[in-house]
Amino acid sequence: MHHILTTQQFLDRQLLKKIFQSAAQFEKLDKRRKIPPLLRSRILASLFYEPSTRTRFSFEAAALKLGGQVISTESAGHFSSAMKGETLEDTIRVVGGYADVIVLRHPEIGSAERAAKVSPVPIINAGDGAGEHPTQALLDLYTVQKELGRLDNFTIALAGDLRHGRTIHSLIHLLSLCRQLKIFLVSPRELALPNAYASFLKKHKINFTVTSDLDEILPHVDVLYLTRIQKERFSSARLYHTVKDTLVINKKKLKRLRKSAIVIHPLPRVREINPDVDSNPRAAYFRQAKNGLYVRMALLDLVL
Ligand code: NCD
Repeated sequence: MHHILTTQQFLDRQLLKKIFQSAAQFEKLDKRRKIPPLLRSRILASLFYEPSTRTRFSFEAAALKLGGQVISTESAGHFSSAMKGETLEDTIRVVGGYADVIVLRHPEIGSAERAAKVSPVPIINAGDGAGEHPTQALLDLYTVQKELGRLDNFTIALAGDLRHGRTIHSLIHLLSLCRQLKIFLVSPRELALPNAYASFLKKHKINFTVTSDLDEILPHVDVLYLTRIQKERFSSARLYHTVKDTLVINKKKLKRLRKSAIVIHPLPRVREINPDVDSNPRAAYFRQAKNGLYVRMALLDLVL
């Protein structure tokens, strides 16, 4: 594998298992502070044209823990030559001459693919607008496996902004690898999953139900995956204000969830999860964020 652009590249259970085993191994080695310097004399460039906390820091920490080095711009739209009118393609050609791998986040769908066409080094898609976010989906599914102890036979609710949520789009592909799966797609109608992804579910004969009623389905799920309403991707402020607080959970609602169920979220959360949920052992979202470090180490090891 050279570039990581979409989770469609990962539709292979053997490959997925290999990545998850590698992530678990890195976690073990990290606890003993014994990570081998597999990225020695390699440089990771993180080129982020959109805000990020977890994705950028966990990729950079992963590279550093593996003995690599990092060059970085966290606000490439302002601090790179994009400000002077340079095209993404030209920037990638140049940065690709300095680094061994480029982690790219950009507001346009398809930007990672465009970058990959001209890049001399691997491109890792860290989010292309409302398109995909493959490394997040890999760590999401890794978290499900780690928390539930299985990759098959579970019910998952994907709730929130299914229209613009790139982590959801990427996860949809990966879920096709799970057997005996049931999905609830929970969103206001305006934020429904785009047709291309719904068709993918149909094509893979995945059992899914569309609803806008989160409370009703809570007792039936093993995994509740909440997402942020992606305010920055709305063309109408009015629509954002009508939908912004429609899907939220708090300590009281959590009582309706199964004892064995988990709550995950790619973060950042805005109001979807009340902080009174955080101390509940079923709140897995901070463990999930930590898992990102190890899954990204496994992915850097894979592409480099
Ligand atoms: C997500 C993203 O950037 O798509 N964040 C992340 O990488 N963990 C989710 C979001 O911004 O809502």
